[in-house]
Amino acid sequence: MTTTTLDARYDAVHKTLDAVGQPHLLEHYASLDADAQAALLAQIEAIDWPEVARLIESHVKNKPSFELAGTIEPAPSYPKQPADDVQAEKYAEAYATGEKLLRNGKVAAFCVAGGQGTRLGWDGPKGTFPASPIREASLFQLFAEQLLKLRAKYGAVVPFYVMTSPINHEATVTFFEEHDFFGLGRDDVMVFPQAMMPAIDMTSFKCLLAGPGELALSPNGHGGSLKALHTSGAIADMKQRGIRQISYLQVDNPLVKVVDPLFVGLQELDDTQMSSKMLPKRDALEKVGNFALVDGKMSVIEYTNMPDDLAKQTDADGNLKFNGGSIAIHVIAVDFVAELNEGAQGFALPWNRAEKKVPYYDPDKGETVSPESPNAVKLETFVFDALPLCDGSFVLETAREEEFAPIKNASGAPGSGVQDSPDTSKQLQIDRAKRWLSNVGVLCEDGSVVELKPTTAVEPSDLERLDLPERIEAGSRVVI
Ligand code: UD1
Repeated sequence: MTTTTLDARYDAVHKTLDAVGQPHLLEHYASLDADAQAALLAQIEAIDWPEVARLIESHVKNKPSFELAGTIEPAPSYPKQPADDVQAEKYAEAYATGEKLLRNGKVAAFCVAGGQGTRLGWDGPKGTFPASPIREASLFQLFAEQLLKLRAKYGAVVPFYVMTSPINHEATVTFFEEHDFFGLGRDDVMVFPQAMMPAIDMTSFKCLLAGPGELALSPNGHGGSLKALHTSGAIADMKQRGIRQISYLQVDNPLVKVVDPLFVGLQELDDTQMSSKMLPKRDALEKVGNFALVDGKMSVIEYTNMPDDLAKQTDADGNLKFNGGSIAIHVIAVDFVAELNEGAQGFALPWNRAEKKVPYYDPDKGETVSPESPNAVKLETFVFDALPLCDGSFVLETAREEEFAPIKNASGAPGSGVQDSPDTSKQLQIDRAKRWLSNVGVLCEDGSVVELKPTTAVEPSDLERLDLPERIEAGSRVVI
């Protein structure tokens, strides 16, 4: 990079920042060396400043109140088990269709792993967290092992796309390299970062610096994945491979079916664009998104936006009216993501405001300060806000104990009752393994610990005809 080019870039950046009232971001520019100057300019250039300026007015100076306008009805869903013979036939056809898609290499897996995982307190990308009960296999390894099993079952590759953020990108790539891509092959794994948004001081409305030559940035929410899939070249890669459906998962759930033939097959049969899995909520206020039809359009109302009185409404039988909780598992048609990005109008998802404690550079002290209370607004978009943009979308109910064991919070002390922690997740993984084994006649005694490798089984029927022990004794720890 020559100095002249840097100067020209500096001038352009300065003009942009001046126009949006953020020139302070270049305050320490002169004190930086050329590399640091170039890095700072690159960070600033990657941001859509007119959009940031608009959002400061709408979402920082003002707290947008979430308004539920229009009619709000519970979203209908396909039941866990088919309700009648006609539906049973449809499920069978959908399953067969999903399997055919897998055999023909038409399905990709996509894990969003750009979040900061602050609640868990794990020093590294969340996907590297040791999640399984005995082997302590990482979340990424568990997903990769499912993909290896699918490859063995269907004789075709399911390519794996992983979205990171610039904060954890390098560490994630290094982890995959160190583990030799878990046997998936480097060419069938694509890791790409999402875009970032500046953190904005809640009182001065200025974007924060993390250091003299660095903006305080955070990932722009998993809604950013729908753009990042396009800008990274992932969609082009999928099209080139002939992929039709993307199986979308979050990084935090070791029991997720990385690809579910029934789910993918239903989307293909119904010719829908983006569909979702749900489970009945544990209680009215469980911290999961709520499926609803808003003005007839499929939507998720995030728990933070769901008014308590609506969440608690019951029907004539006393059941929760809005009982459909989102477990953030979707199947998304490749064509839908392509259309969103290539459409003449472009597309925009609504922004969500969160007040957070964001460390910032204090020039007077010459150091970065960690505030004790929330000082800044972070802005994120959510992927499920693309649901109302779809032409077609369905919800498929699933069993909590079979598919949902998220790791979100650090484990508490024994008896503390912390939910969604590594401890609760491990127990759910053990319980499912024992259930599957018991179904094929293995006696799992109380007090035994069992881990079922995804390369052994991704669904119960994979255990049939395997050479399994007759009994797993109390006190033993067995990996199958
Ligand atoms: C999420 C869903 C919630 C759902 C629940 C089920 C949101 C806002 N809410 O809650 O509706 O019921 O999971 O477990 O998602 N991520 C990125 N980039 C980002 C932010 C997040 O890739 O910028 C990824 C994370 O790495 C993670 C996932 O998105 O894989 C979920 O993020 P998180 O913020 O932890 O959502 P939850 O509050 O757990």
